Amino acid sequence: MRCDVFTLFPQAFDWYLSQVHLRSALDLGHEVVLHNYRDTTPLSHLQVDDTPYGGGAGMVLRIDVVCAALEAAFGGDAAEVRRERRVVELTPKGRQLDDALAGDLAGGDLVLLCGRYEGIDERVTNVLSDRVSIGPYVLSGGEVPAMAVLDAVVRKLPGVISNPDSVVSESHAPELAGGTEYPQYTRPAEFLGWTVPEVLLSGDHGRVARWRAGQVRGGGSTG
Ligand code: 6GU
Repeated sequence: MRCDVFTLFPQAFDWYLSQVHLRSALDLGHEVVLHNYRDTTPLSHLQVDDTPYGGGAGMVLRIDVVCAALEAAFGGDAAEVRRERRVVELTPKGRQLDDALAGDLAGGDLVLLCGRYEGIDERVTNVLSDRVSIGPYVLSGGEVPAMAVLDAVVRKLPGVISNPDSVVSESHAPELAGGTEYPQYTRPAEFLGWTVPEVLLSGDHGRVARWRAGQVRGGGSTG
């Protein structure tokens, strides 16, 4: 898979791209390419944004700037890019990311468009395949959401997670029927009087499996 990320802050991705899952994906031949809208803006003084028509607070990322960036990266018309790859805008107005959408996005090449300010000019819809949100709250830019999407997608790529069992049994995978992963414990077996469920120390794999299966439905309580 190739993922092209368009942003005004490519350096925001440095730490994330150095993480072990990303590095193993890159070692397998997957690619992440960062693009700065400012590097290809057709406007003078490296301008990328403008005041909103109709007035109001903040600045809007210009559609001509977004299209110039797509055309510089892929050649041809910006509106044609989505014929070959999934072009996704990160916006709180998008479809909320879930496990199924992450798996779906892992199935082909991906373009992630990060907005800042008050977002991207609405005419960006002419070049999009999808709009994706990471939850019902507003963040100041699309970079953190893009990393969340990339992380969820990369974990779906075959061979990225060294132990495939840990992907199958992960929280929210369909195998768990929408429930959450069972609780995990490690040494010490007792700390400040806080103990580990006895069944996990029993060495009885059948009992452990039944106990875990009983933990994954519903949940939510920490008491
Ligand atoms: Cl994708 N972008 C922004 N700016 N805020 C968000 C979001 C995305 N998803 C949830 N909040």
